[in-house]
Amino acid sequence: MEVIHVPVMLREVMEMLSPKEGGIYIDATLGLGGHAEEILKNVKACTLIGIDRDEEAIKIAEERLRRFRLSHSMYFMKESFSSMSKAAEALGYRAVDGILLDLGVSTLQLKAGGKGFSFLKDEPLDMRMDKSQRLTAGEVVNKYPEKRLADIIYQYGEERFSRRIARAIVNTRNKKPITSCVELAEIITKAVPGRGKTHPATRTFQALRIEVNKELEELERAINSGGMPLKGSHQKGCSVLSQKNL
Ligand SMILES: C[S@@+](CC[C@H](N)C(=O)[O-])C[C@H]1O[C@@H](n2cnc3c(N)ncnc32)[C@H](O)[C@@H]1O
Repeated sequence: MEVIHVPVMLREVMEMLSPKEGGIYIDATLGLGGHAEEILKNVKACTLIGIDRDEEAIKIAEERLRRFRLSHSMYFMKESFSSMSKAAEALGYRAVDGILLDLGVSTLQLKAGGKGFSFLKDEPLDMRMDKSQRLTAGEVVNKYPEKRLADIIYQYGEERFSRRIARAIVNTRNKKPITSCVELAEIITKAVPGRGKTHPATRTFQALRIEVNKELEELERAINSGGMPLKGSHQKGCSVLSQKNL
């Protein structure tokens, strides 16, 4: 299956980063390489450090960006972005000209089979961006205490029916484990009243994804550790961009 990710806010991102000749850039959420490609296209030569914790995405991005190999220095690393400074330092870079964080899931994670992110797919409840980590959505759904589940669904999904959904999950799993995305989506659909424009499972699935991948902790760690020192003139632009993304 060919998966194409349309990079979001491409113009804004490029305006903020404003890549310059010889610059050093970290795309800390490389995904399928859409933003990275744009950075590379905008200058004749620069250094790109592409980081993602999804190994499969890195392979696709690396292939997509191959044609820039001759003119640019490119590094691809399977890492969490909270470790970006260590990763860059290991390559010998102590400061960079720009850092991009494009948070969330990629089209690959959502649309390609077997990842367990989509409530439309009959596949195991997984949702791990990094397949080497242990915690899966299945474990959260089947093992977390009801209150913790409700809190996660409320806080990370802003779902007003969080308590009802957590109750329905616990009632079902008391009879047998909940194993598939579609099964969970049906439990949620039955638990909430009425139907709006979006699928009733949307917010709960977002909350589970954030919990499984510890997305907020990752972001906090990346911001608190300063991510990576930025060279002078780009400091302001990058901080504005990260606020927009939040
Ligand atoms: C919205 S996609 C990025 C798409 C990319 N900008 C493009 O144009 O193709 C987000 C990516 O960030 C990755 N990601 C999420 N959290 C991460 C983290 N803490 N560390 C490293 N990568 C992460 C995901 O695996 C996913 O591939």
